Amino acid sequence: MRRPVVAGNWKMHGTRAENARLVEALIEASDKASGEVVVCPPHVYLWEVGRQLKDSSIGLGAQNVCAEAQGAFTGEVSAAMLKDVGCSYAIVGHSERRQIYREDDALVARKFRAAQAAGLVPILCVGETLEERERSVTEDVVGRQLDAVLDVAGVAAFAKAIVAYEPVWAIGTGKNATPEQAQAVHAFVRARISARDATIAGGLRLLYGGSVKAANAAELFGQPDVDGGLVGGASLKADEFVRICAAAA
Ligand code: 13P
Repeated sequence: MRRPVVAGNWKMHGTRAENARLVEALIEASDKASGEVVVCPPHVYLWEVGRQLKDSSIGLGAQNVCAEAQGAFTGEVSAAMLKDVGCSYAIVGHSERRQIYREDDALVARKFRAAQAAGLVPILCVGETLEERERSVTEDVVGRQLDAVLDVAGVAAFAKAIVAYEPVWAIGTGKNATPEQAQAVHAFVRARISARDATIAGGLRLLYGGSVKAANAAELFGQPDVDGGLVGGASLKADEFVRICAAAA
């Protein structure tokens, strides 16, 4: 039985005051959600949000991590630093990083390894663009993104990782993948990993991300290979996010 997980990716939103209010509301609602809940604030707020979460069951994650361990990398934050300020998770390979900041598969694989080396659970994002879906190459793209990490980190690394399928055309557009579309790609991801190790694939949690809201969460999370969600916009609204977490539990 895979324990469902819902992670909120705040992206570049929030202020100290807004974060405090949001986290307070999440903590208040958290005993009702029996699944795992994670919040991923901007780096600069991690420490303060982590302090507020200290005695709660809610986990802390980073939205990005440097592939290097330390050194002259101006502006970057290492996995060990994220761990040091209380993170347990790190998102790697988010489509906004891949598209806007040109992170390629090889760099994403190195970030995945760096996160794990520091004891963080990587949340590896994969997903196709609209153009790729229309060309019917979704499985080629997602397969390539997965293989890049599998080849570098090895399948055993997926025993301590989470994979998030985030179709780029569904992110921030209000247009979610249908539960059937999500399930089809999730089943493909599991099969791809199962080809290397069926036990690890069977235990791996696969999250869906892309316009998840309270209104569509239960149907998406009801699919056999959808083990929760990676939520952007709706994770900034306490009531909405709490209802999404409840749908996963
Ligand atoms: P939205 O939920 O805003 O579509 O964002 C999804 C996402 O990118 C989460 O990482």
